[in-house]
Amino acid sequence: MFAVDTERREAHEAAAGGAEKRRYVRRMFSEIASSYDLLNHVLSLNIDRGWRRHAIDVLGWERRPQGMYLDICAGTLDVGVELSRRRGFRGSVIAADFAEPMLRAGREKASGAPVRPVVADALQLPFANGAADGALVAFGVRNFDDIDAGLRELVRVLAPGARLVVLDCSTPSSALVRGVYHAYFQHVLPLIGRAVSGHRTAYRYLPESVANFPGAPELAARLERAGLTNVSYRTLTLGVTAVHWGERAAGPGRAA
Ligand SMILES: C[S@@+](CC[C@H](N)C(=O)[O-])C[C@H]1O[C@@H](n2cnc3c(N)ncnc32)[C@H](O)[C@@H]1O
Repeated sequence: MFAVDTERREAHEAAAGGAEKRRYVRRMFSEIASSYDLLNHVLSLNIDRGWRRHAIDVLGWERRPQGMYLDICAGTLDVGVELSRRRGFRGSVIAADFAEPMLRAGREKASGAPVRPVVADALQLPFANGAADGALVAFGVRNFDDIDAGLRELVRVLAPGARLVVLDCSTPSSALVRGVYHAYFQHVLPLIGRAVSGHRTAYRYLPESVANFPGAPELAARLERAGLTNVSYRTLTLGVTAVHWGERAAGPGRAA
């Protein structure tokens, strides 16, 4: 019991934000990289694949199929590889993540695909202003130690009119669904997560990070404040996830 309380406290403190969160997140994903894909698909009952497909569907890459797209917080490269394999896609994807073991764990999936993994922090991206024709972040923004600074940085690297898509966990609006979801997240998920990954706190951090994350309407407002226009969102699977998208307002073009 004491150990469970200690794990809860550690995960709670890690999810709260600040520099400690950044260190915790990077180390934690590096430690669970080898079991990440398996756990993702098991814990979401494989529904996560459909969520990522949905995010790619709203990116609008068809407007510029030869463009350069960013998969930020790319993890094991699922989003970038799926985008690069869409019929008619002739561009390239840069897949950025600050946990190198995650990128390495996904390397084989990208074999032969125009996807280039890059070790980089989403809050300090190594790209020029306006360099990207679009960007996606799947299950990454929730982990930022400063969400608004991270969103501004994502908008900075988009070309005017280019789209940012954010896919992340959300809190269902129905009290009934929220109750079931909460019970699963607090009691079932940490047990399976720990048994498979062997990690003490990673799957306690997950529900804590969702609890600290803004709901879908607030996230939409924060995306607008970060510099996006035409912001829309859709909740998926009874509201346990939400996909948001918006476009960088027209303005100065790409940096020379
Ligand atoms: C839950 S995983 C999502 C991975 C992948 N996008 C997916 O859909 O499965 C979150 C990833 O975000 C990365 N991440 C979190 N904060 C980051 C940051 N500030 N900069 C770069 N990567 C970050 C983590 O290392 C981890 O690989």
